[in-house]
Amino acid sequence: MVCLGNICRSPLAEGILKYKLNPNDFIVNSCGTSNYHIGSKPDQRSIDIGNKHGIDISNQRAAQFSREDFKTYDFIYVMDSSNYQDIIKLTNNTQEKNKVSLILDELYPNENLDVPDPYYGGEQGFEDVFQMLNKACDTIVIKLNKLR
Ligand code: 4NP
Repeated sequence: MVCLGNICRSPLAEGILKYKLNPNDFIVNSCGTSNYHIGSKPDQRSIDIGNKHGIDISNQRAAQFSREDFKTYDFIYVMDSSNYQDIIKLTNNTQEKNKVSLILDELYPNENLDVPDPYYGGEQGFEDVFQMLNKACDTIVIKLNKLR
C-alpha cells in the first residue's frame, strides 16, 4: 500500500487489509513515495479513525518505497495518480509495471479514481478515506484468497 507520506492513507490501507487477511498467507505492508516522514507514527487522525473502526495502526512507522519492494511484493496498490507516476518511474520492466495499480481500480476499474489526500482537511476526510479503503480491501481480499 503506497501513498505520498505513509502517515495518512497507506497506513490505514495496510491496517485494514491486514485485518481482513490470514497473516499466515500474506505479507501486507505500506510505504510512501516521499522521504518526508520516515520513522514517524501515522497521523493521529488516521490512528483515531482506525481505532473508531477497531483497527490499531499505532505501531506502524513510516518508510519510503524502494526498488527492493518490487521483488518482495506481488501487488503494489497506490492511492492516487501522482503516486502511480512516481512508482512507475522506478520500474525497470513490464513485470514490475504490472504489479502497480490504483487501489480504487479494484472498485471502479479503468476510472482512474484517487483516494484523496486527507492531510490538509478535517476529520470527515479521514472517515471518507477509511470507507473507500475498506470497500476496496473487501474486493482485494476476494481476489487474493483465490490465489491461495
Ligand atoms: P499521505 O498524506 O500521503 O496519505 O500520508 C500526506 C501526508 C503528509 C504530506 C502529504 C500527504 N506532507 O506533505 O507532509
